[in-house]
Amino acid sequence: MSAHPSHMPVPDDASRLPITLPRLAEKKALGEPIVMVTAYDYPSALAVQRAGVDLVLVGDSGAMTVLGHPSTVPVGVDEMLMLSAAVRRGLRTPFLVGDLPFGSYEASDEEAVRTAQRFVKEAGCDAVKLEGGGTSVQRARAIVAAGIPVMGHVGLTPQTATALGGYRAQGRSADQAAEVARGAHALQEAGCFAVVFEAIPSAVAEAVMPSMAIPVIGIGAGPATDGQVLVFHDLLGIREGMGARFVKRYASLLDEMAAGVGEYAADVRARRYPAPEHGYSIAPGELAGLREALAAGA
Ligand code: KIV
Repeated sequence: MSAHPSHMPVPDDASRLPITLPRLAEKKALGEPIVMVTAYDYPSALAVQRAGVDLVLVGDSGAMTVLGHPSTVPVGVDEMLMLSAAVRRGLRTPFLVGDLPFGSYEASDEEAVRTAQRFVKEAGCDAVKLEGGGTSVQRARAIVAAGIPVMGHVGLTPQTATALGGYRAQGRSADQAAEVARGAHALQEAGCFAVVFEAIPSAVAEAVMPSMAIPVIGIGAGPATDGQVLVFHDLLGIREGMGARFVKRYASLLDEMAAGVGEYAADVRARRYPAPEHGYSIAPGELAGLREALAAGA
């Protein structure tokens, strides 16, 4: 039997307090697992708000999950801002992080700060995320200096997956693993408030964790990190196929959605929908008046 009673309504808890950076640091210090999930629109935001997650990421994975692109690369800043603003409208308590898309922050510190400011000013994000070590470390430092909290991201960084040899686990040799660790340490030193470890061996994450003073959120990085993140559409099964090996599926909503729309289509075709209770009424006298008007050529 599923441990997740998916048909039980989950009400929002009005007593829940907004998540802040000090609260995230406290969670790490207390060893309380941090829950992060992606969201891309108002209804997904309502769902994650009710579920009481700590961090919400409007990931550039939205390029694939909601915009249908084959990778995260094509999504632009304006599209990400529209998704982020919609998520903002559905959230009350989680800390909201907007993902800086490919090509929006790499060229210069000025470009990185300007893009990050748009996520805060136009979409209401609390923080931004950027991928990779290298020049991204300097961009992270610049954005932090401009007063915007930054989350880093090392390991498998999908925006540069081609250069990494495809969507595959990283850090599987000592040299590669040390490179992942160096990236994480550099982002920490640049002032990031947290960092994502994606698709690295669990033992590598475990080895690096003692040197991480900031919260580390894992996805395909095993259980040693301070928290976990999954893509909304992966965990709820709103997609074709299963996705990466680290995905655990908690529902099969695409199947339910298709079945629901299929039932509706069958009802329309069989004239079962709409039924009398789905229609509006008019007083008999008014209807008679209409008929007269129609007869008179109205
Ligand atoms: O875009 C995204 O969804 C992400 C998470 C997988 C961390 O970067």
